[in-house]
Amino acid sequence: MTTRKETRKILIVDQDADSSQRLSHQLEFIDYEPKKLSSPELLDSLGDLSDYASVLVANFHGIAPWAAKLREKHEKCPPLVLLLGNSPADIAQSDIDENFVGCLKATIRYADLTDLLHKSEVRGTANTTPVKEGVQNPELFRSLVGNSRSVHRVRKMVDQVAPTEATVLILGESGTGKEVVARNIHYYSNRRNKPFVPINCGAIPAELLESELFGHEKGAFTGAVGARQGRFELADGGTIFLDEIGDMPLTMQVKLLRVIQERSFERVGSNKSIKSDVRIVAATHRNLEQLIIENRFREDLFYRLNVFPIEMPPLSSRAEDLPLLVKELITRLEHEKKSSVSLTPAAMMALCNYDWPGNVRELANLMERLTILHPYGVVDAGDLPPKMAPHGQALNQEREAVDAAAGGNGLPMVQGMPAVALNNKPRLPREGIDLKQHLTDIEIRLIEQALDECSGVVAHAANRLKIRRTTLVEKMRKYSIQRPEEVS
Ligand SMILES: Nc1ncnc2c1ncn2[C@@H]1O[C@H](COP(=O)(O)OP(=O)(O)OP(=O)(O)O)[C@@H](O)[C@H]1O
Ligand SMILES: [Mg+2]
Repeated sequence: MTTRKETRKILIVDQDADSSQRLSHQLEFIDYEPKKLSSPELLDSLGDLSDYASVLVANFHGIAPWAAKLREKHEKCPPLVLLLGNSPADIAQSDIDENFVGCLKATIRYADLTDLLHKSEVRGTANTTPVKEGVQNPELFRSLVGNSRSVHRVRKMVDQVAPTEATVLILGESGTGKEVVARNIHYYSNRRNKPFVPINCGAIPAELLESELFGHEKGAFTGAVGARQGRFELADGGTIFLDEIGDMPLTMQVKLLRVIQERSFERVGSNKSIKSDVRIVAATHRNLEQLIIENRFREDLFYRLNVFPIEMPPLSSRAEDLPLLVKELITRLEHEKKSSVSLTPAAMMALCNYDWPGNVRELANLMERLTILHPYGVVDAGDLPPKMAPHGQALNQEREAVDAAAGGNGLPMVQGMPAVALNNKPRLPREGIDLKQHLTDIEIRLIEQALDECSGVVAHAANRLKIRRTTLVEKMRKYSIQRPEEVS
C-alpha cells in the first residue's frame, strides 16, 4: 500500500537551473526529497515513478502528450501536478489532463505550495489504490484545508496515527471537521480498502443502539423479524466511527468497553461470540471529563478511548484559514452545485471578524446560501447576514490584542488577501489584565505568524517585524518558538 509517509520523493522538471534549485530548497525545507530533471524527455530514463508523490513541471507548454505517455508506461503514474510560473489563465486547455492538480505563480508562496502538494498527494493515493468502499460521502473526505499551525498539527497527527491500530478520540466543537478527520484516518490507514462505518450514538434511541451496533438474531425482540448484522460486523476489517460518543447511554458504554477489552461481542439474542477486527475512532463535542464528574460517562471507557486524542480547533481561533477555506468551499460548490460566487475584500474581512459558533459547517452553509442568492455574483460586506456585518459586533479579546500590538493596522496579509484589519481600540476587561503576560502572548503570536508567512526563514521574518535577525533569534530562544517545519 502506498501511504503518504512513503511518498516524500518529488520530481522537478525545469530547464531553468536557478528556479529549479530554488524550488528544490523550498521542498527540502518541508521535508520532501526533490529530484531535478532539466527536461520531460529525461523522465524516460527513470525507472518506476510510482514512489514519487508528484511531478512538478516548470515552464513547459504542451505537457499533455508526455503526460499521457507516462501514464501508459507507468501503471502507477504519480499525479502530474503543478505548472510553475503560470497563472491558471495561461494554461492551455490541452495541458489539463486528469492528472493535473493546479498551478503555482512564479514567486512561489509556501502556503500555495503546501496546499497543492497536499492535494496532489491525496490524488496520488487515490490513483494508486482505488477505494472501493468507505467513502460514501465525498464531501466528508477532503484534505484538511488550512494553513494555520493548529491545522498543520492536526494533519501531522493524522499522518502519525493513521497507519497504526490505535484508538483515536477526536474532540472539538460542532462543525470543526471531526468527521473529516475520522475519514482521513481511515483513508490513510491499512484498512482503507475495507469499510468505514459511521454511527451517530446520540441520534439512535437507546433501546435500538445495541442491536444497531452488534446486530440481532431473529426474534431477539418484538419486531426482530429476521437476523441482522450490526455496525461492528459491517465494519469488519475496517474502521467504525462512533460519533457523538458522549451521548452514548451508560448501559451501552459498559458493552462497548467489553468489545474494546475482549475484541469480541454477541448479537442481541445470541450467546455466540463474534470476533471483532475493527479499528475504533470516536468523536464528541462534549467535555468527557466533565461528564465523568457528573457520572454520565465511564472513566474506564474514557481511558480506553483516549489513547490518541486529536483536538479540532474552533474556526474562530484560526481566522487565517478563512480565505483558504472559502476558496475550497466555493470550488466544491462549483463542482457539485454548478454555481459560484466571489467575495470582496471587505466581505472577507467581515468573515474573518465573525466568531463562527457553527465553525466550518456554518461557513459551508453560508457559502451555499450566497451562491443561491448571488449566483456568479460578487458579494460585498453588506450582502452578508447582519450578524456578520462589520460594525457593531463584539470582537474577541485575542483579536483586539493583536490589533493593539500592530498599532491599529491589523494583521498582515492572509493568503494574499487583505487580512483582518481591526481598527477597534483594545478594551480593558472588567476583571483587569496581566499586562506583561498579555503583551508577551501578543509578541509570540506575531512572531509565529511572521515565521509562518516567511516559510520559517528567520531573516525574512525579522524584516517583517522590523527587528534585527539576532533579536528575533534571541526572542525565539527565550519563548521556545519553533520554525514551522519544527512544529510537532
Ligand atoms: N478543514 C476542512 N477543510 C475542508 N472542509 C472542512 C474542513 N473542516 C470541516 N469541513 C467541512 O465542514 C463541514 C463540517 O465538518 P464535519 O461534519 O467533519 O464536522 P464535525 O466536527 O463532525 O461536526 P458535528 O459535530 O456538527 O458533527 C463538512 O461539510 C466538512 O466537509
Ligand atoms: Mg460530526
